[in-house]
Amino acid sequence: MHDISSYEFDLTKEVPISEPQRQFYYMAKAKKLVEELEQKLGRKPSFHVATFGCQMNARDSEKLTGILEQIGYVEADSEDADFVLYNTCTVRENANNKVYGHLGYLHNKKKKNPHMMIALCGCMMQEEHVVETIRRKYQFVDLVFGTHNIYKFAELLVQAFLTRQMVVEIWEDTDQIVENLPVERKYPFKSGVNIMFGCNNFCSYCIVPYVRGRERSRQPEDILQEIRNLVADGVVEVMLLGQNVNSYGKNLSEPMTFAQLLTEVEQIPGLQRIRFMTSHPKDLSDELIEVLAHSSKICRHLHLPLQSGSTRILEKMNRRYTKEDYLMLVDKIREKIPDMAITTDIIVGFPGETEEDFLETMDVVEKVQYDSAFTFIYSRRTGTPAASMEGQVPEEVVKDRFDRLLKRVQEISAQKAGCYTGQVVEVLVEGENEHDAALVTGRMSNNSIVHFAADASLIGSLVQVRLTECKGFYYIGEMV
Ligand code: SAH
Ligand code: SF4
Ligand code: F3S
Repeated sequence: MHDISSYEFDLTKEVPISEPQRQFYYMAKAKKLVEELEQKLGRKPSFHVATFGCQMNARDSEKLTGILEQIGYVEADSEDADFVLYNTCTVRENANNKVYGHLGYLHNKKKKNPHMMIALCGCMMQEEHVVETIRRKYQFVDLVFGTHNIYKFAELLVQAFLTRQMVVEIWEDTDQIVENLPVERKYPFKSGVNIMFGCNNFCSYCIVPYVRGRERSRQPEDILQEIRNLVADGVVEVMLLGQNVNSYGKNLSEPMTFAQLLTEVEQIPGLQRIRFMTSHPKDLSDELIEVLAHSSKICRHLHLPLQSGSTRILEKMNRRYTKEDYLMLVDKIREKIPDMAITTDIIVGFPGETEEDFLETMDVVEKVQYDSAFTFIYSRRTGTPAASMEGQVPEEVVKDRFDRLLKRVQEISAQKAGCYTGQVVEVLVEGENEHDAALVTGRMSNNSIVHFAADASLIGSLVQVRLTECKGFYYIGEMV
């Protein structure tokens, strides 16, 4: 999808200082090293990127993959590869443990393949104690970098190749955004697009602001140009990505609102669907609701994390809205856009959460009737204010509340899911059905999944489908 020749670089010249030219220089250099490795191996060296965490990480992995392909590696679907990269997440403790578990497994593979290189990046690497542990216990790792210097991947890779020692480079923060590096998309027809990086909200339980740094918005022209290029390359749906998209543009030299950005994205010819993630309730403006209501491209799905239904807990979480604010916001959205699916994230067992607080959360769940909800058990993250709060809730109590919440959330989504049965809706065909080759799987505007009989050549197209039957979390349909 990229003209490879445009990345060729004259290696006899001095190393450029400005970006992205500097990285193109290192990509050219890495390409030579990979060629040498290919000759040694007698085959093309392979790579595997494993991604943990959110859409932001998924998009980063596409960029890392773009660079690996650019320099001559071929993709392998398993960790039996010459270069394995883990793009990590640290939002909850179990995300962390998973990575350590996998590393043990990789060590065995590396013993059998001395040419193998192992690299780690992403949010977990921004934590000092993690990097210390890796230096101490996982000395077979070749390269460790963080979220702020991810654009330097090619340069760091060359360093690791040449030194044959563990290369570790982690930055505390950055104000830099490097544009125009290669990207290899997972799907030809849809793509994530970063509109901002970092987060300034400091919800008291959350580690993201510490590992992703301060909020930085991309220039609107860069975003629009990227989307135009994606459309020219076959993309029909974009997902605009940010930890809090509703505060987009506040810190630009010429400030712009998220609603204004959406209005401009909407005008891009050929683009058919727009999604975005994530909306913080405190910044969701009336202007945005108006834009959503009048848009024909913005999908009917709003992810609006609640976290807790108790105003007392919300205050301790530093969410800056009350239970009533949240409910009023949902009412306003439903009034203007009745078919908008609303989904959420909820944390159970935040420090000091009482049964009464929990029942407030259950009450919001009852009142809002979420189309679906991600429920999480509170996980204590070192360095966040909540980690040192009093009243950490005992595990059995949390587990009991979690089970009650999950049960109710699932019942409600199953009930809600059925409501479109019999209707004809527009569906983006996303892939072949995993269990039945005669079927394809598509996604409705409201994010519901539907399986129906159609030819795989329709993947990437928008088609009309009658929803014949609801199976709880998905529909069965037929093309009309
Ligand atoms: N920026 C997004 C959320 C990103 S993290 C927002 O503000 O909505 C995704 C979800 O992980 C959060 O919505 C929250 O529900 C959950 N989460 C974050 N930190 C957590 C923690 N310490 N324990 C449990 N869940 C957590
Ligand atoms: Fe974390 Fe809150 Fe920022 Fe979301 S808004 S990433 S929950 S600090
Ligand atoms: Fe995880 Fe980092 Fe995303 S901590 S949820 S991958 S921003």
